[in-house]
Amino acid sequence: MKSFNSPIMVTRPLLPDLDSINNQLEDVWENKWVTNNGPKNKELMEELKNYLSVKNISLFNNGTLALILGIKALGLEGEVITTPFTFPATVEALDWNGLTPVFCDIDESTLNIDTKKIESLITDRTSAILGVHVFGNPCNVNEIQQIADKYNLKVIYDGAHVFGTKLNGIPIGEYGDMTMFSFHATKLFNTIEGGALVFRDESLNKRLNLLKNFGIDNPETVELSGLNAKLNDVQAAMGLEVLKVVPEEKYRRNQIKQLYETHLEKISGIRIITIHKEEESSYQYFVIEIDDKKFGMSRDSLHERLKEFNVFTRKYFYPLCSDFKWYKKLPTAQKENLPTAYQKVEQVLAMPFYGELSDQEVIQICDIIKNLSKGSR
Ligand SMILES: Cc1ncc(COP(=O)(O)O)c(C=O)c1O
Repeated sequence: MKSFNSPIMVTRPLLPDLDSINNQLEDVWENKWVTNNGPKNKELMEELKNYLSVKNISLFNNGTLALILGIKALGLEGEVITTPFTFPATVEALDWNGLTPVFCDIDESTLNIDTKKIESLITDRTSAILGVHVFGNPCNVNEIQQIADKYNLKVIYDGAHVFGTKLNGIPIGEYGDMTMFSFHATKLFNTIEGGALVFRDESLNKRLNLLKNFGIDNPETVELSGLNAKLNDVQAAMGLEVLKVVPEEKYRRNQIKQLYETHLEKISGIRIITIHKEEESSYQYFVIEIDDKKFGMSRDSLHERLKEFNVFTRKYFYPLCSDFKWYKKLPTAQKENLPTAYQKVEQVLAMPFYGELSDQEVIQICDIIKNLSKGSR
């Protein structure tokens, strides 16, 4: 089996032509407005409103701070029901707001919060449900909303993986009270670091602007205790150019996804998790699940063996957030309450997935996996 000469990573940042960035930077240099809601920030906000088909958007210097301040703006208290199968930032945003996470098990097909198990976790301290659209597969948004309406709860989504996704023709950011997007370099659309909140209640805009700017209302008034979480104009300029190349990148990722599917589906013990069947999928990740008995090797062994061929996959969302030492003692963090999450966290593997991967490289990765599988021995 042939190994790669240089490492193949899980993601590669989508970088537009350097000349286009230089042109943007010339504007910034000329108007000398580099941060604090400058012209590039305003321009990007309008472009993103259009692209995401949303009315209310606020830009931040990363997705984590967006989520922390979004939760703060909603004024949540007590407990929030969420998933253990997510990036640490989701649950840490609750910590930073003094909220207690209540871990709910996940659905075995989508790996998103299992809506059948939410209701039994609701107490008189519950104030919200925080769902994550894991790997680009949307949560069961309608059922989540029904539960939230019944118990008068807020609904927030960590949408770090669903930039531009539509579900039933409706932009994903229209569901729930608020959705966070991450514009980190690993994401389909990036500003190197960056993020956004989209939200239903227009009046939150004022509070979010205060929260991300130290609580300063005007030169003479500090209205509340805030943070510094503004997207600067150099990041925004980058975003304006990246947004232009997103459609081409998505087109290419769709081709890569199809190639992976053709070659991996035939291998016993591999299930493809990221279905990307929704209109306007984000094509954020291509993720598989390994059944060690059928495949003939555990996910961990496959992850290690692939490194020998210079292929670096990611055991995405390992370990579970419920396993972090400061949550471990929570009743809902106990293993017996999260059987699916504990099973899947040992099986899931994110594959290299970015537009610059050539067909040849994808086929070679699939061949290596096939050769490592039981079927070939
Ligand atoms: C699900 C999820 N939530 C939150 C984040 C954090 O976003 P950021 O890096 O923009 O702070 C990430 C990854 O970056 C993520 O994958």
